[in-house]
Amino acid sequence: MNLVRSAAAAAALFLFACDTSQPDASKPGGKAEQEAIAPILNTPDAADIHSYAKPLEARVHHVSLDLNVDFQGKRIGGTATLDIDRKPDAREIVLDDRGLEIQSVADGSGKPLQYKVGASDPNLGAPLAVALNPDTKRLVIRYRSAPDAGALQWLTPEQTAGKKKPYLFSQGQAIENRSWIPTQDSPGIRQSWDATIHVPAGLTAVMSAPRSAEPITQGGESVFSFRMPHSVAPYMIAIGVGDLAFKSLGARSGVWTEPAMLAAAAAELADTEKMIDAAEKLYGAYQWGRYDMLVLPPSFPFGGMENPTLTFLTPTFIAGDKSLVSLVAHELAHSWSGNLATNATWADFWLNEGMTTYAERRVVEALYGPKRAAQQVALGVDALNKQIADLGGPSSPDTRLHIDLKGRHPDDGLTDIAYEKGAAFLRTIEAIVGRERFDAWLKGWFDRHRFQPVTSAIFLADIRANLVKGDKALEQKLMLDDWVYKPGLPANMVKPDPKAFAQVDAAVSRFGRDSAFVPAAEWKTWNTDERLRFLNRLPRKLPATRLEALNRSLGLNETRNNEVLFAWLDLAVANRFEPALPALERFLTTQGRRKFVKPLIEALAKDQQWGRPIAKRIYAVARGSYHPITQRDLDELKL
Ligand code: BES
Ligand code: ZN
Repeated sequence: MNLVRSAAAAAALFLFACDTSQPDASKPGGKAEQEAIAPILNTPDAADIHSYAKPLEARVHHVSLDLNVDFQGKRIGGTATLDIDRKPDAREIVLDDRGLEIQSVADGSGKPLQYKVGASDPNLGAPLAVALNPDTKRLVIRYRSAPDAGALQWLTPEQTAGKKKPYLFSQGQAIENRSWIPTQDSPGIRQSWDATIHVPAGLTAVMSAPRSAEPITQGGESVFSFRMPHSVAPYMIAIGVGDLAFKSLGARSGVWTEPAMLAAAAAELADTEKMIDAAEKLYGAYQWGRYDMLVLPPSFPFGGMENPTLTFLTPTFIAGDKSLVSLVAHELAHSWSGNLATNATWADFWLNEGMTTYAERRVVEALYGPKRAAQQVALGVDALNKQIADLGGPSSPDTRLHIDLKGRHPDDGLTDIAYEKGAAFLRTIEAIVGRERFDAWLKGWFDRHRFQPVTSAIFLADIRANLVKGDKALEQKLMLDDWVYKPGLPANMVKPDPKAFAQVDAAVSRFGRDSAFVPAAEWKTWNTDERLRFLNRLPRKLPATRLEALNRSLGLNETRNNEVLFAWLDLAVANRFEPALPALERFLTTQGRRKFVKPLIEALAKDQQWGRPIAKRIYAVARGSYHPITQRDLDELKL
């Protein structure tokens, strides 16, 4: 990449921001910085093909929500007031809309504005174009979400742990929030926001922002207010409503969840404050005030979601021994990689996830030591190699970090390429320049790009300007462009420590040679990562007698560790191992984490003779308990 292109890529366009002239607008951490309108990148690689917005014409910079949560009707409705920034001659502003029922659109003085909802695309939803008068600076949209809004899951009391009250939660990333918030749903269009949320009395609302007032309960409803002073990508606006209790974990962290879950969740999360300290050492000061977490019901479709100030977590990470808390390190690390510096488009999703996966393991190293971190790196590289094979091998275009998502849903990029190839890229740079120099660059990156959208080109330009600094030999060694723009794994990739799992790998080979061997005694001493390595490295085809021996000696059907259970069930399904079916059915009907249910149901469905009827039977029961995102994926199997 030549210098001209890199410099152009780094250029940002401030759109007529009315308040950039404030004297202290550039003072770091100052009030003015928080309220300055975040710039829109104007290079072609920063144009978001997954949004209808034309932000260089007119863009939203603040969203103010006043919404009522209607559990009977499964709708969130009220008003969204949008503050906009526009070219003086802009004739319209285009928002993203997925199934919203728009009742009216007016300007700040109440004067109706013309609007039109265009044709709907199956991936993107529809454009909502609002005509602007020359002086329009604010839109007031009266609307409600559809009962099948893709971001929202409405749980009946029976679907909760407490069984008494209903529950609602949202998942915005990647492009789901347009199903409940009429705004420009693009990660490159940062917006500050506030919200007033009305819920039935007795329920608690939490959001991904600090509370701005004490809750008020009156006349059968409770009202909660929130305000996010920083501009954030709109996918980071999130809500949870239910019978929620809170437990503090330290000076700036705590956990929300249903009362029945609170003690177990807090115990599992006991290391959170230490993680924040470790992440700050690596990345620089935490910028968001508090770091709280919401542990959701088991249908939460992801392991975690880094909603600012309030990470959302699956309850399936609670193993009782903190063995799966690298998930928390991951979501916390997104407070920098992802939430401070955000991929401008989903083609550069690796900038969010690869950097975060790298940092996750640095935090694990700081808290639990280099051995455990090296093991998680090695598990990651195994996952990466499997992912490359599944995508069709190292020449497949989808093995590039900067990917082409034309005509596709952003979730097509949700692969271990972004996570593990991205992390391997950063480990490789670290190994070449040394940890000290790399860490200094990393801190600087977040300092230079906080609260800003970023692209692969900006990343490369920044590395060249601040790390390579014209050193030709170093430039050659790093192979930066190969990493970002070429498929497969560059030759300079730093390999995982071959001894990270020495004992486990020896057991795997012995298992291959000796048909009477099961590592029952070793298993008792192995940590979760070692158990995962063992199960994942076994031959994919095994006779029933050997699976029986494993199951009996290692208690696999009964394990309470969900990652271990998943690894076991994956092997069991590949071998049509029927004694695992009750455990499989229980697993698929009691949690809805996409990473667990999708591969298992897909594997069953592919096995036409044996598996497909099982998949059909289980999905018929389980579907209703899954989040719309998980349903959408699995409905494609046409079971
Ligand atoms: N931001 C992601 C989740 C996500 C990505 C949701 C893209 C929707 C679209 C989150 O940080 C994440 O990566 N979660 C992982 C856990 C992590 C430890 C790898 C997950 O959910 O499995
Ligand atoms: Zn992530």
